[in-house]
Amino acid sequence: MSRIVDNPEAYFLKFIPVRDDLLQRLEAEATREEIPIVGPVVGELLYILARSSGARRVLELGAATGYSAIYLARALAANGGRLVTLESNPAMARRAEANLREAGLAATVEVVCRDALEVLATIPADSLDLVFMDMEKRDYARALPHLRRGLRVGGLLVADNVAFQEADDFNRGITWEPGWRAVSLLAFLPFHSPERDGLCLAVRV
Ligand SMILES: C[S@@+](CC[C@H](N)C(=O)[O-])C[C@H]1O[C@@H](n2cnc3c(N)ncnc32)[C@H](O)[C@@H]1O
Repeated sequence: MSRIVDNPEAYFLKFIPVRDDLLQRLEAEATREEIPIVGPVVGELLYILARSSGARRVLELGAATGYSAIYLARALAANGGRLVTLESNPAMARRAEANLREAGLAATVEVVCRDALEVLATIPADSLDLVFMDMEKRDYARALPHLRRGLRVGGLLVADNVAFQEADDFNRGITWEPGWRAVSLLAFLPFHSPERDGLCLAVRV
């Protein structure tokens, strides 16, 4: 009879996607400075989702040092698309900008140092193909009506850290409000902060 591998978490550590020197440096900085980045598994997932969906108009809410933005922007460079990433902390926004420049992605990404909820309130209808939300969890529920307006039908919302208590109102809204089909995965995510967390994937319908 077939059976699952012994200790699946240790087993899958062998299969973490390969990263270049820049991404590894940002991971080391994140560990040292306790910056909560998505890590290589969610990073690669973002690349795959953006690349395979052909997304061209992408918004990120919460850039930190630009680690996840590098994954998204690499997919968008291949798709001929563009990323806007919002970061409210000016020092982080400057670091993200420098790292994206070092990655050769300055033409693909704009780092905007503003509060995401303020910007979301002005987003035109149907103007986005994909949104990656990774900011303060307590703001997720307030962002939801704006995301429903801004994402085109068929557009994808990826929300990180949905196992946090502060994401409870968001989890209820995305599951039960009209306009979305959503699934939340509780997963082992090596080098993610934290390594056991929830990730929500939702499509605008
Ligand atoms: C979890 S970190 C982002 C990590 C990044 N996505 C990565 O994986 O590389 C969250 C970031 O969102 C920023 N942030 C939190 N609330 C925000 C808001 N309302 N508007 C813009 N940025 C926000 C914080 O300053 C912080 O740098």
